[in-house]
Amino acid sequence: MRVGILAASTVATGLIYRRLNHVSSITTNTPLIKELTTFPTAAADANGFRVADPETPLQDITHYNNFYEFSTDKEGVAPAAAGFETKGWRVSVEGLVRKPRVFDIDDLLKISPAEERIYRMRCVEAWSMVIPWAGFSLSKLLNLVEPLGDAKYVSFETLLDPKRMPGQRSDVLKWPYVEGLRIDEAMHPLTMLASGLYGHALPLQDGAPVRLVVPWKYGFKGIKSIVKIKLVATQPRTSWNEYASNEYGFYANVNPHVDHPRWSQATEQRIGESRRRPTLMFNGYGEQVAHLYAGMDLRANF
Ligand code: MTE
Repeated sequence: MRVGILAASTVATGLIYRRLNHVSSITTNTPLIKELTTFPTAAADANGFRVADPETPLQDITHYNNFYEFSTDKEGVAPAAAGFETKGWRVSVEGLVRKPRVFDIDDLLKISPAEERIYRMRCVEAWSMVIPWAGFSLSKLLNLVEPLGDAKYVSFETLLDPKRMPGQRSDVLKWPYVEGLRIDEAMHPLTMLASGLYGHALPLQDGAPVRLVVPWKYGFKGIKSIVKIKLVATQPRTSWNEYASNEYGFYANVNPHVDHPRWSQATEQRIGESRRRPTLMFNGYGEQVAHLYAGMDLRANF
């Protein structure tokens, strides 16, 4: 059966037409992040670390999810992930590095104080959100393990444990979920290891304890619940590309000019808004990232 990432028309209308809530009245039950740093406005604006668009309510960010390890039903992810145990989590950083290391999650999160970054997230299904993430640039972790000169790509892997992740008992995707970036994309300051949102530790359904966020790419690049990061010489496999290579490319840069074979990418439905809005090239982060793709045919490398 073809499930795949769904077409834009399947976005739940109940969520779309709900008015924006007052953010401050909603809380998550995950612990508060201590010493969350925020950037001064000028630095945040120049770096793309904080967009001015209204933030999507926490309720939507935590109850309208894609996380196939738990459910293919967006509203079913939160209840299915509710008992997921992340105690004792470790992340192995390995491959073409001088100092490979297995991090306990607490040590990994101590690499840098968490910073608040307010990013747009554009799903390939043509819905979008604005999410106040907490975390730090992936480059801080990569620099610590000292990549070797022949490390050209970074691959990422989600936990494989069908006992704890019931969706992995189905063959909707080949497990574990894997993703990848070119090394310069991985080292870009916007590329983030996120461990929280709205000032609290990541809810389970959003990829606890740590996930990737790459705001100029479609949301499926943002692999959740990471256990392995490996620096490699050649372009790694990625889950959605392997599922349907004509629909989901390795690069997956947000691009309103290159349609998905089954729907347009020119506009998007921001969750919580009533009208569609135009999709921006590189999701509005062109000033920061367009140079990474200078001279590249973005139609061929979608
Ligand atoms: N990571 C894993 N391991 N499994 C998934 O199914 N879905 C991806 C991405 N990361 C997914 C994943 C997709 S398609 C999107 S749009 C985002 O997570 C959704 O993140 P959110 O649920 O926190 O909004």
